[in-house]
Amino acid sequence: MTDPTDLTRRSILTLGSAGAVGGALALAGCAADAPSETTSPATTPSPTVTDEPTTEPPSAAPVGEDIVALADVPVGGSIDATINGEPALIAQPTAGQVVAFSAICTHQQCVVAAAGAEFDCPCHGSKYDATTGDVINGPALEPLSAIPVAVSGDRIVATS
Ligand code: FES
Repeated sequence: MTDPTDLTRRSILTLGSAGAVGGALALAGCAADAPSETTSPATTPSPTVTDEPTTEPPSAAPVGEDIVALADVPVGGSIDATINGEPALIAQPTAGQVVAFSAICTHQQCVVAAAGAEFDCPCHGSKYDATTGDVINGPALEPLSAIPVAVSGDRIVATS
């Protein structure tokens, strides 16, 4: 037997041979055969592309290098550390509040060491306040450079 769809297409093509109107009908007949092919690919990739931009902004938190566990820095004290490959000092003046400084002495660039609530330079004896980085005793005159850090969960992370 003959498929009814073929009969319809054959009838349209026969009518189409009579003029331009038939050509338009023939095109309409072809389009009716392929709706599943044109709609499927168009709907499948769209949700995937749309999902990526909506999930990216919320996860873009200003968190940098993981440095050390918060528990490793004594409250009221300080530790030697490395931040972005450079010697640094981290202090926790009060529970959960952290500060960090470059460990490069502002006098003649020796590496300053953590010493509880102070930072001490071994070269010429300068002492810095571990909470502020300010000079307690010279010969250094300028404070240590602050490094932005934050607490993220139970970790201390650089924020720059
Ligand atoms: S280099 Fe630190 S006190 Fe001189």
